[in-house]
Amino acid sequence: MQNLIVQAGNEAFAKWRGRVRVPGDKSVSHRSIMLGALAEGTTHVSGFLQGEDSLNTLRAFRAMGVQITDPVDGCLTIRGVGLHGLSAPASDVYLGNSGTSMRLLAGILAGQKFSSVLTGDSSLAKRPMRRVIEPLQVMGAHIDSVDGKPPLRIKGNALLSGIDYVMPMASAQVKSCVLLAGLYAQNITAVTEPAPTRDHTERMLHAFGYAITRSANRVSLQGQGRLIATTIEVPGDISSAAFFMVAAAITPGADILIERVGLNPTRTGVIDILRLMGADITVLDETLLSGEPVGTLRVRGSELVGIDIPTHLVPLAIDEFPAIFIAAACAQGVTRLTDAEELRVKESDRIQVMADGLRVLGINAEPTADGIVIEGGAFGGGEINSHGDHRIAMSFAMAALRAQGSIHILDCENINTSFPGFVPLVQGCGLQVSVA
Ligand code: S3P
Repeated sequence: MQNLIVQAGNEAFAKWRGRVRVPGDKSVSHRSIMLGALAEGTTHVSGFLQGEDSLNTLRAFRAMGVQITDPVDGCLTIRGVGLHGLSAPASDVYLGNSGTSMRLLAGILAGQKFSSVLTGDSSLAKRPMRRVIEPLQVMGAHIDSVDGKPPLRIKGNALLSGIDYVMPMASAQVKSCVLLAGLYAQNITAVTEPAPTRDHTERMLHAFGYAITRSANRVSLQGQGRLIATTIEVPGDISSAAFFMVAAAITPGADILIERVGLNPTRTGVIDILRLMGADITVLDETLLSGEPVGTLRVRGSELVGIDIPTHLVPLAIDEFPAIFIAAACAQGVTRLTDAEELRVKESDRIQVMADGLRVLGINAEPTADGIVIEGGAFGGGEINSHGDHRIAMSFAMAALRAQGSIHILDCENINTSFPGFVPLVQGCGLQVSVA
């Protein structure tokens, strides 16, 4: 178990003038392997996230007979086997910490001729899976679990039929799971979402030549078509960039550039929320990469103020709240988040674990059933238990920029799930971090 010690202070970071590049987008990396494997022909991927989560997806498809080269500097090649070319894995498919791998794979595996079992680590073992089991069963899948938690057991040879699914929660993983099962189903599969969620699956299906239709908040596709191999350039992950955005926003005098960040409008809620708090963020050089908008972000330190976070931005910033809470702790006044109960079922209960950590530092943070109330102010150092949640660990590392004492963060191994190279990268920008 790896712990981090981050010294208080921000003089070096405030003076640092440079560019950072964060690793590839996790959501896009997962999907590049999945669709590349199911396509006909050879897909080339660059910018792939060589983090444990997306590597677990890669290993899962290798275990089902797909030839995928070892990623080198984010570049890899996938020999697609077509929609019906996967073979039975020799053993249970282990997906580590990755909820995205499990929920999306469940949709793909529901349509196979062979049976499979999906397992994960102790965090994944606690995460709710009924949200994918139920719609898949309605489609005709034979999928089961104990108490709606992993492992998932999927029986082969099910005949899937399209459904018109109205999702009870705003979840891109559930939407993607149903659409991927829909590739194997008869007729049309449609998903209606209660609020917009990340649309990487839809964009990438289109890039692989698969027709997909959106009208308002409903997406649909006709099953049993074909995916045609393509080239995917994965943008930098805005969820990883968020730590640097917050770091610069809370540091007086900071002025940094974050290059080649994915700016898909279903992911940019963090920029909108930080701007509402008074952050100085400029988007430069916007362009399109494999159907996904990307750009460079310039972020300068400024005075932040507490806000009531608009609820429509919640699904568009769902992974960035741990970092946003650190910005709220540094802001003048109170920040209130509501309508965010989904945060309680992420890699950890992010409302409770963040509230506990902020309180250790001396910040008033009141968890509520569906959010949190944070009163900004000066704070000290202390020992934080990240509960193995990568984003919580990295958020508290950034808090040290404004803390009056060093911050010791426990259980940080999972930073490697989404952000390999985090420690040397932040050291290079002037943060004093050591591994203990
Ligand atoms: C993801 C969707 C989100 C997000 C997760 C990645 C995806 O989960 O939190 O980190 O790649 O589809 P939900 O769909 O459960 O909100």
